[in-house]
Amino acid sequence: MVNYIPDEKVLEVRNRADILEIISEAVRLKRTGKNHLGLCPFHTEKTPSFTVSPDKQIFHCFGCGEGGNVFSFLMKYAGLSFPEAVRQVGRRYGINIPRRSLTPEQKKGINQRERLLMANQEAKTFYQNALMKTSAGRNASEYLRRRGINDVIIETFALGFAPDGWRALTDHLKRAGFISDLARSAGLIVLNKQENGYYDRFRNRIIFPIFDLGEQVVGFGGRIMDNGEPKYLNSPESPVYNKRRILYGLNRSRQACRRSGIIHIVEGYFDLLTLYQHGIENTAATLGTALTEEHIRLIKGHTEQTVLVFDADEGGIKAALRSCNLFLQAGIDARVLVLPDGHDPDSFVREFGADAFKSAVEKAPGMIGFIFDSAVDQFGLSIEGKIRIISHLQPVLADINDPIARSLYIRELADRIGVAEHAIQEKIRQSSGKKGPDFDPDTRPASGKKREAITGRAYKLEKLIVAMLLQYPDMIPDVEQSGIINRFSDQQLRTVGQQVIKNKQIPGVRVPDLIEMTNDPDLKRTIASLAMGDDDRWSRKGCLQLITQYQNISDTRRHHFIEGIKDAEAAGDHKKVAQLQQQWAMKQKPKKHEAVGME
Ligand code: CTP
Ligand code: MN
Repeated sequence: MVNYIPDEKVLEVRNRADILEIISEAVRLKRTGKNHLGLCPFHTEKTPSFTVSPDKQIFHCFGCGEGGNVFSFLMKYAGLSFPEAVRQVGRRYGINIPRRSLTPEQKKGINQRERLLMANQEAKTFYQNALMKTSAGRNASEYLRRRGINDVIIETFALGFAPDGWRALTDHLKRAGFISDLARSAGLIVLNKQENGYYDRFRNRIIFPIFDLGEQVVGFGGRIMDNGEPKYLNSPESPVYNKRRILYGLNRSRQACRRSGIIHIVEGYFDLLTLYQHGIENTAATLGTALTEEHIRLIKGHTEQTVLVFDADEGGIKAALRSCNLFLQAGIDARVLVLPDGHDPDSFVREFGADAFKSAVEKAPGMIGFIFDSAVDQFGLSIEGKIRIISHLQPVLADINDPIARSLYIRELADRIGVAEHAIQEKIRQSSGKKGPDFDPDTRPASGKKREAITGRAYKLEKLIVAMLLQYPDMIPDVEQSGIINRFSDQQLRTVGQQVIKNKQIPGVRVPDLIEMTNDPDLKRTIASLAMGDDDRWSRKGCLQLITQYQNISDTRRHHFIEGIKDAEAAGDHKKVAQLQQQWAMKQKPKKHEAVGME
């Protein structure tokens, strides 16, 4: 990856940025002492182990091991490339990072994601112009007006119009210097059957750009303006567009979601736009795809309460039930609002107004209530019906990870259908037992590869020593002098330790800088995890003891090795001797270029 943002700029952005502020926009955090704690956005958990340290400007999850500085967070969370992350943070703090006009050589070097986003951005502007500034766009403006969409919404959501004809955008992008292959990867243009030319994917349609949380255009939806088929056309998935993790409108609505603590999840573009226009801004749309675990993590990062809004048709109810299962497994409650027959949020609000919608939301049942109701509707309350209700709900209830929630729901069901609680419990028990634990910290990909077989004790000490270097830099000279770092068996820890020592002269080198000096995401995580901790626990005396302890253990290990070699020699096992000698040599020799190059 070519880093075409100058290093000084990167530094300026990093120094100005506040990791707490940035992460708070994505994860709900609570202060605990010096750190802030929340539910990890990178794995499913119910007890917070995701930690942000404003002092150190790093984050680390004790559950899944993810961690790093402000840029690593955005890269992982929003799927951004490094330059994108720097730009996004820069924008936020008013640091302008000019897009230099690039030489063709540099252009080639920019990674594909950046180029796809640039093509999408160009297309977005093109469609906006076509809507607002061309006579062909008049019909489209008319259509939007008929559907009650005002100019503020058109502007806020950057709505546009794809002209009729086959090559309007294809030609435009070509003129703007985008190669066809790129525009095709972005899903903007399509290769024709003869495979000798391209044509526009979206023709004569209203265009909805789809933004990610970094306000980048990752894809488009296009609606036909009459009864033709298909009603909607969407961008295909691409390296920048992952449908599993995009919620339409969240880039605009996230503030309102945070403020109110509630998010409404709807299905369609117009549902979102109309609600937003009517002041119900805390809304996001799934765009007709089934809700995913990734969506739920996004939601969880923004609000406490979710309201799932569905159409009353059979498809809507099925989708609602599926979504409920996901929420239950994630241990989050949600309410389910099923609108009266024939209505979706868009038509409902336009017909009955925002207040009617709000009061319907207030009356909406919780998920479990909704699931029970649907089952009762479906099977009835005859004896036969009750038996079927219980078998129907058995897997749903068995899937709820939280035992307390599960037993409360079982009681509720027992009350509702008039069956003894223990009978239901018995039935559920039959189908559980297959479930694994919520999350097993021992299986986390702490360093990916299986570590060398080293004595656990030495490894623990090595970790402690690096943590000490990062948290209590006063000890750096002592550690350096003792030379213990070069005796570390764990290659990653040795690298981190060496980096700390090597950079001690540079004033103000802090943990986020160290994180950035490496390209290895694994190493980034290690640094963040070891830097996180209570700085006050260190004392000089304790630290010196730690160094001595390590020296002793390291001597003992060396002794064992030498003994082992001697034994093998005595037994005439030359193969073993060679093997041990080689192992020993490997341990002693720090590898040279260990992922420490600057970006
Ligand atoms: N959808 C889609 N492709 C289709 C139909 C639907 O991608 N052929 C997606 C769109 O994102 C749409 C959502 O699913 O907004 C919900 O579909 P539907 O309820 O059928 O459409 P509405 O959103 O109600 O659209 P409209 O009000 O414009 O008829
Ligand atoms: Mn609709």
